[in-house]
Amino acid sequence: MQTRITELFGIEHPIIQGGMHMVGYAELAAAVSNAGGLGIITGLTQGTPENLAREIARCREMTDMPFGVNLTFLPAVTPPDYPGFIEAIIDGGVKIVETAGNNPAKWLPLLKEAGVKVIHKCTSVRHSLKAEAIGCDAVSVDGFECGGHPGEDDVPNWILLPRAAEELSIPFVASGGMANGRQLVAALAMGAEGINVGTRFVATKDAPVHENVKQAILDASELDTRLIMRPLRNTERVLINAGVQRLLETERALGARITFDDIAAEVAGVYPRIMKDGDMDAGGWSCGMVVGLIHDIPTVEELIDRIMAEADEIIQQRFGRPSASAPKRLVETA
Ligand SMILES: Cc1cc2nc3c(=O)[nH]c(=O)nc-3n(C[C@H](O)[C@H](O)[C@H](O)COP(=O)(O)O)c2cc1C
Repeated sequence: MQTRITELFGIEHPIIQGGMHMVGYAELAAAVSNAGGLGIITGLTQGTPENLAREIARCREMTDMPFGVNLTFLPAVTPPDYPGFIEAIIDGGVKIVETAGNNPAKWLPLLKEAGVKVIHKCTSVRHSLKAEAIGCDAVSVDGFECGGHPGEDDVPNWILLPRAAEELSIPFVASGGMANGRQLVAALAMGAEGINVGTRFVATKDAPVHENVKQAILDASELDTRLIMRPLRNTERVLINAGVQRLLETERALGARITFDDIAAEVAGVYPRIMKDGDMDAGGWSCGMVVGLIHDIPTVEELIDRIMAEADEIIQQRFGRPSASAPKRLVETA
């Protein structure tokens, strides 16, 4: 399937694997790229530019196909070594960067000079337009359903995507809640040029995370995610567990008086405990409502093949011929 996104990134299928902290290692990124999608290594997970350089080299050993690196720009007292990470990306010959979080304008000239294409993740039309204005090549439009940080506007993809289509000139992919071929077709119908997938890729054989994480996704339904850190205006959608319940009780009890320190035990340093140790009650980890649509643990290749086959079948069966209810004169001129 060809779209503006497959052309932009030189990939076979319009499926991107979004950056995921402590999930987006070389193994997963290479598996996605080898299956014809766009795999993404999560930059900050590597901790230092030197480690990121090694991870890029490792990924290159596993795939000849294009892959990217995610750089998440977070407000931080001591910011990560972003110039060092960007140098590692450019020196490593990576030509695609997924940015997320704060406005990436400051870093675009460096990336553009090195011929790197930038796709910025946005949770609103206004942020998407900003990304377009500062020179990003594409955006990932991340609806309210998404795992991770949906922003503070709470607009689901059924509205957000067609709104993005009304306003944007650069191509965009639909992000948040994506798991199957029917959603890919719906995303295309709403103006997107492909899909960005997070949670669904965690529940694959290739995701290098503890088996308990995959089992928790299988066991969960679409009712099992919660929004945390809303009072801090840093909302995150996570899977419910004992730690998250404790955190929500603290939020209820403290109301507007809450500070990050009050919930640090349930959010800081939780990822290694979840992803490596499989301690599923440790606290908040990003997870989308799409868990309700996840019923198996295929390889990445099986999943991508399945999504594409399902999408092709729907396109053939439903759209292969003009709708019977279309006015006759339109059918004749089609
Ligand atoms: C476990 C996990 C960790 C994530 N970590 C990051 C991250 O570090 N940076 C980022 O930009 N997005 C991160 N995301 C968001 C994904 O890239 C993607 O935008 C989101 O998962 C899409 O929604 P979905 O989960 O419904 O597919 C994470 C998502 C998950 C599930």
